[in-house]
Order: sequence, then C-alpha cells, then structure tokens
Amino acid sequence: MAFFSSTEIQQWERFYRGNFINSLSGFKSASLIATVNNDGISNLALFSNIVHIGADPALIGFVNRPREAAPHTLGNIEATGHYTINLIPANLIEQAHQTSAKYADGESEFSAVGLTEEFTVHSKAPFVFESPVKYAMELKEIIPIKFNNTFFVIGSVTGVFADEQILAPDGFLDLEKANIITSLGIDGYYATDKLARYSYAKPGKDLTRID
Ligand SMILES: Cc1cc2nc3c(=O)[nH]c(=O)nc-3n(C[C@H](O)[C@H](O)[C@H](O)COP(=O)(O)O)c2cc1C
Repeated sequence: MAFFSSTEIQQWERFYRGNFINSLSGFKSASLIATVNNDGISNLALFSNIVHIGADPALIGFVNRPREAAPHTLGNIEATGHYTINLIPANLIEQAHQTSAKYADGESEFSAVGLTEEFTVHSKAPFVFESPVKYAMELKEIIPIKFNNTFFVIGSVTGVFADEQILAPDGFLDLEKANIITSLGIDGYYATDKLARYSYAKPGKDLTRID
C-alpha cells in the first residue's frame, strides 16, 4: 500500500489533489437543494456534504463552499429561511450533475437542466417534482467556518414527501427501492445495494438481522 504525506499531496496538481481529497470522506448522499429568492426566482444545486445532526428535533446540516464560489443557495436560504432537499434517483443523475454548473444570477437551474419545480403549501421553496423522496427545511443556524471560509448550514425538517412503497413498517426508508444514488468525490455516482440491517447493538448481545 502506498503512503502519501500531506507535504507530497500539497505539491500535486490542483484537480488531481481535489479528486483525491474529495474521495477520502467516502460514499455520500448527493441531493438537490432547492431555494427561491425574494423575486421568486428558483435555484437548484447539487450538494453531497449533507449530514444528519439529530433525530429529535430532526436536524440536518450541509456544508456550503465559500460565498464567492457558490452564492445562490446560501443567499436564498439567508433571505427566505427555507429550502428543500431532494434525493436523486438514478435516472436523474445527469440533470443533477448539470445543476452544479455556475449559472448566472436570475437563471433557474430547474429550466436549464429540465427538472420541474413544484411549489406546495409545505414550503416557500420549491421541491423537485421528479424526486421520490424530498423534505422541507427551515433554517436554524449558519455557522461560518473561518478556517476555509465555508459555512455549515443547519436546518430543521418541517415535512417529508416519500413514496409509501419504500417506507418499512419500522420507519426505515429503504432508499434503494427508489433507486436513490450515492456519490463519491465530485463526479462519481453509484447505485446502491443493501447488504444488511441489524438489531440495535448492545455489549454481549448477539445481533439479529432485520429483513
Ligand atoms: C457531486 C457534487 C457534490 C457537490 N457538493 C457540494 C457541497 O456539498 N457543498 C457545496 O457548497 N457545493 C457542492 N457542490 C458544488 C455545487 O453544486 C455548485 O457550487 C453549485 O453551483 C452551487 O452553487 P449555488 O448555490 O450558487 O447555485 C457539489 C458539486 C458536485 C458535482
């Protein structure tokens, strides 16, 4: 096995280093975050640095790049306090990836990539109509990360749309059944294949499998 020191990594070409480092945090959910500005113009962007913070209250956070690089989602959330997070099925990968392009102010990625914005009574922000699992978020806190000028955006879940076929009797959402993809780095997308679910782990107690 090769070992790469941080000194060596620092000397690599920028995009090579980016691909390498972006792969280290492993497979991640990739979701589309939809927002709207105060003029009613929507924005849609792909995010993979999305993390569960707590179940009660239901809190989810995501990392936003520096404002100069990715201003629209962050700005719209600051302006309205609302956004939606839309999971991505395999048939939408190309359109989802295309939303990461830098579109001009005032140009909605929904129409640019051919996805349908769905306004409901459940959020000021639109949902992605084509997404089979999506949820509405209300902003709670934005934590600036001074070290690299990124932001950790924390919101609470105010409502969830999910196909009932993927909802297990114990509340587990079997995202694989809706062909929800996972991502690696900033351009790799993967199908999912469930290996197992297990009972709650306790010291000295054998695990049982959940089907
Ligand atoms: C697979 C993938 C994952 C991404 N994940 C993030 C992320 O977690 N945070 C982020 O700020 N940008 C991420 N991006 C880049 C944004 O999609 C891109 O900057 C987008 O244009 C957002 O800018 P906007 O909010 O100004 O529209 C990702 C891009 C790709 C292709």
